[in-house]
Amino acid sequence: MTTANTSPPQKQSRRIIHPLLVRATHWLNAFAIVCMVMSGWEIYNASPLFAFTFPKWATLGGWLGGAIAWHLAAMWLLLVNGLIYLAYGFLGGHFRRHFLPLRVADLLRDLKDALRFKLTHQAGIYNAVQRLMYMAVLLLGVLVVASGLSIWKPVQLDSLVDLFGGYDVARRVHFIAMAGIVGFVAIHLALVLIVPSTLLPMVTGREPKHGLKQHGSNQEQQA
Ligand code: HEM
Repeated sequence: MTTANTSPPQKQSRRIIHPLLVRATHWLNAFAIVCMVMSGWEIYNASPLFAFTFPKWATLGGWLGGAIAWHLAAMWLLLVNGLIYLAYGFLGGHFRRHFLPLRVADLLRDLKDALRFKLTHQAGIYNAVQRLMYMAVLLLGVLVVASGLSIWKPVQLDSLVDLFGGYDVARRVHFIAMAGIVGFVAIHLALVLIVPSTLLPMVTGREPKHGLKQHGSNQEQQA
């Protein structure tokens, strides 16, 4: 004999697409990067490398000494937090699962779609453009920290300075890596603005609600 199912419909729980460790390190990293860039611009303004300075409102620290204090404090946060994220990424398989594979054909296709504002976005799956950008910013992060350490302690870390080809080259590399990171953040934020539904999952970890309505396919447009 069969009985009718009278129990109320089960509330479907949304799956976790960003683990807690990735979210925590991401937001701490975003805070550290903002502090480092703004205080770095104040330090740069005290002895500009090029024929321009950064506007005062975009700097942090108030004066050279204050900016150096901010820069070094945020550097330790970025370094420790970055090492935790990298350890999880490499040892926990996060990079292998989410950043790989990265195929030239996928990249060309996604780049073409992105430029035509037709790139699809699936919750929890990074497209080839995102994968390339995330890998590039990781390399820039390593470069900015290594070049920064070599211009901070050029005597103690002279082998690192030599690796860059001298103090002046290391200073330029530090600036260029900073510019690359700022460029990444600008594109990254533009993508979040174009697909705002990616933001809440980066806070709560759970896939967006509308993803379930579309029976798990949750395709949406992303530039
Ligand atoms: C307030 C500024 C930021 C916002 C609003 C933001 C937002 C986001 C969002 C929504 C995602 C998930 C994208 C998706 O699911 O498709 C993401 C991922 C990511 N973001 Fe950001 N982000 C910010 C700053 C940064 C900064 C400064 C960096 C590095 C310099 C960064 C690096 C990354 C990386 C590497 C990922 C991939 C994380 C992973 O899965 O391992 N973000 N961000």
